[in-house]
Amino acid sequence: MKLFTVGPVACYPEVLEEIGRQMYSHRSREYLDLHYETVDLLKRFLETESQIFLFSSTGTGFMEASIRNCVRRSLLCCINGSFGKRFADVAVANGRVVERLEPPLGEPVLPDMLEDALARHPEVEAVALTHNETSAGLINPLRELASAAKAHGKLVFVDAVSSMGGTEIKVDEWGIDVCFSSSQKCFGVPPGLAVGSVSEEALKLSEAAVDKGWYFDFKLWERYQKRGRGTPVTSVIPQIAGLNRILRLIEERGGKEWYFNLYRRRNLKIRRGVERLGLSIFPRKGYESPTVSCVNAPEGVEGALIYERMRGKGFELAMGYGDLKETTFRIGNMGHIEERDIDLMLEALGEVLAAL
Ligand SMILES: Cc1ncc(COP(=O)(O)O)c(C=O)c1O
Repeated sequence: MKLFTVGPVACYPEVLEEIGRQMYSHRSREYLDLHYETVDLLKRFLETESQIFLFSSTGTGFMEASIRNCVRRSLLCCINGSFGKRFADVAVANGRVVERLEPPLGEPVLPDMLEDALARHPEVEAVALTHNETSAGLINPLRELASAAKAHGKLVFVDAVSSMGGTEIKVDEWGIDVCFSSSQKCFGVPPGLAVGSVSEEALKLSEAAVDKGWYFDFKLWERYQKRGRGTPVTSVIPQIAGLNRILRLIEERGGKEWYFNLYRRRNLKIRRGVERLGLSIFPRKGYESPTVSCVNAPEGVEGALIYERMRGKGFELAMGYGDLKETTFRIGNMGHIEERDIDLMLEALGEVLAAL
C-alpha cells in the first residue's frame, strides 16, 4: 500500500534502518550522545534557545503539559477543527476555564479576530493555537497570531503536530512559549515520541505551579536535561534515533528550506492534480495546509467511499475527520513519498471518480 496518510505516515528508509538497531540503556553514553545531539539539531531546526524536551508520549502529552505547567485559571483556545477542539477539551478536563475563538469551519483564525477575542477576555493567561489544523487541511498565520498574542502579554502555545518539519516555525523570533509536535508526521518517524520547546517564561510558571502532576512536569524534565541525564523516564530510543537521522539528513541535503520546498512541491502537485480532476479544496483559498490536502468529495458521494475505493487501488489516503467526516477526504504529503507515486495516485483517483 502506498501511503498518503496524515499520520502515522510512511517512514523514510533511513529512519527504518535506524530504528531496527539493537537497544541500549537510556542511561548509557550511547543514548546521552544521541539525546543531546538530537536536542541541538531540533534547536537549530526551530531556531530557538528554549529547552527542548523529548517526551515518551505522543503530541497530546505535550498539549496537556503546556496547560498543567503554565495555566492557573484560564486560556483562550483558537479552534478551526478537531484538534483545536482537543486543546480546549484537554484544558477543560484539567479544570481550566476555556474561552473559545472559533471561526466557521474552513476559515483561518486571523490576527484581528484574536485582537477582538483578547479585548473581550483580557483575563486569559495564554493563547492556544493549532498551526496546521489537520482535520480541515488549513494553516493559520502563526507568526502574526503569535505576535498579536505577545503584544497582549499572553503565553503562546502552539500545536505544531502536522506542521513542524513541513513549514517554517521560528520559535524565538515569533515569540512562542511552548511549541510541540509528534514524531509520526512531517519527520517520517514512527509514533511514540513528542518533541517540544519550552521557554524560560513557561519554565518559571511551571516552577510555581501546583498540581501539575509528575510525568510531564517541565521542571523535572529540565533538571534531567541540565544535569546531563537526558530524560527522567525511559526514552523512546528508536524514535529518537530515527528523528536524529532525518534531522541530520536534512542538514546534509541543504537544510530545512530544502525540506520545506520538497513538501511544498509535493503539496502543490497534489492540489493541482485534484483540481484538474474537477474537485475543490475545502479551506479558504490562501490558507491551504502545506502538508494535508482536505478535498471536498463530489456532490452526493461520501468521502469514505473514495477512501475505500482508493485502498482497493493500493493507495491509503485519509478519511474526513470530525465534522468533515462525510463530506471530505484527505491526502497527506508527509513522510516517505516518491514523486512518481503522486502521479500514480492522481491517476487512480481519476479512475475512482470516473467509476463513481
Ligand atoms: C494538529 C494535530 N494536533 C494533535 C494531534 C494529536 O497528536 P498525537 O496523536 O500525536 O497525540 C494530531 C494528530 O493527528 C494533529 O494532527
